[in-house]
Amino acid sequence: MHTAVDVIRSKRDGQELTGEQIDWVIDAYTRGEVADEQMAALAMAVFLRGMGPAETARWTAAMVASGEVLDLGAVRRPTVDKHSTGGVGDKITLPLTPLVAACGAAVPQLSGRGLGHTGGTLDKLESIPGWRAQLSAEEIQRQLNSIGAVVCAATTGLAPADRKLYALRDVTGTVESVPLIASSIMSKKLAEGAQSLVLDVKCGSGAFMKTFPQARELAEALVGIGTGNGVRTSALITDMSVPLGRAVGNALEVREAVEVLRGRGPADITELTLALAREMLALAGLSEVDPEPVLADGRAYETWCRMIAAQGGDPEAPLPQATCVEPVLAEEDGVLQRLDAYAVGVAAWRLGAGRARKEDAVDHSAGVRCLVKPGERVSRGQPLLELHTDRPETVPAAREALAGGYEIGEQAVETGPLVLDRVRKA
Ligand code: URA
Repeated sequence: MHTAVDVIRSKRDGQELTGEQIDWVIDAYTRGEVADEQMAALAMAVFLRGMGPAETARWTAAMVASGEVLDLGAVRRPTVDKHSTGGVGDKITLPLTPLVAACGAAVPQLSGRGLGHTGGTLDKLESIPGWRAQLSAEEIQRQLNSIGAVVCAATTGLAPADRKLYALRDVTGTVESVPLIASSIMSKKLAEGAQSLVLDVKCGSGAFMKTFPQARELAEALVGIGTGNGVRTSALITDMSVPLGRAVGNALEVREAVEVLRGRGPADITELTLALAREMLALAGLSEVDPEPVLADGRAYETWCRMIAAQGGDPEAPLPQATCVEPVLAEEDGVLQRLDAYAVGVAAWRLGAGRARKEDAVDHSAGVRCLVKPGERVSRGQPLLELHTDRPETVPAAREALAGGYEIGEQAVETGPLVLDRVRKA
């Protein structure tokens, strides 16, 4: 017989929780038997004392067990999923999902909406006229068999314990704990039922994890949880100090993703899409398939068009365009030394691309286009960035967010690698 107070005391005193204690407390919290204030005390004890790899894997499994698990048993291809910890201009899911599907795997991408300065995949796709995010479990399976690619809304039945706990952590100062973050992310991913999972752990100013050691710690925790729960899992740690590509904001990002699928996209997005595709194909047992020609010869684009059309969208329809487009001009001649991902993310958000509260609507045409990236030369008076919005009154606040977010100088700029490290379980 367990009680919440016993479990809290165990963790408060630095003990490892038993599997039974974890299963009980997560289940009892989901059912409302353990009160919010008790779970808040336990979350704080975990925040201060930590959890080991076995405890974290069990905590995650208990959160998965709190709800439904998508049954992908009838899918006839190897299933492999990707999750990014969130970045600025990170539209990689859009070209990656159809690419990996065109290579022979099934990719169920159950995604969310954005909150704060990073955008959500569903918000991006909803800028396509007619596209529908809500699919039933049967529709997901059918589309995985026919096309191999689905991007849709995660149903509320997946990992309900996490939804409750995340909201509680948000108001009790217990978000920034690696075991709690890792178990939160992985509970939702494991509930999607894929056989393999690749994590893109972002590192830098525009990411949740600002430094490499923090990102590496999170990546190891995520891979440990996946592997500990029988899912082939690996992680790439990738740079998020500069926005990915040149477009930040929903419709702007969809347009750029289509350029990648047509072989004309920015080099960084294409490189990361291919690196993640190779990682996913390796885990799915399809390492002999080279994704590069599949992207270059239009097969991935064709899969994109089928995936969008299957969910009611018109892949050829014009995307929303902002009525107000304002440039940010270079104040001097030189080489762009730095373009801060966080500053650009906040500017796009203020222009209307993101939401401040969950229930807010986003402006699909709003965002920022980065006309110049670090290492490129500019002349005084040349546009560096373009601010897109339907609400001109938001432009001053966006300009304010960008103040100090870029720097022009005379030094040549060394751009570092995009993929900083790979984490796989030995
Ligand atoms: N994303 C999640 O899903 N959970 C966290 O705890 C943090 C980021």
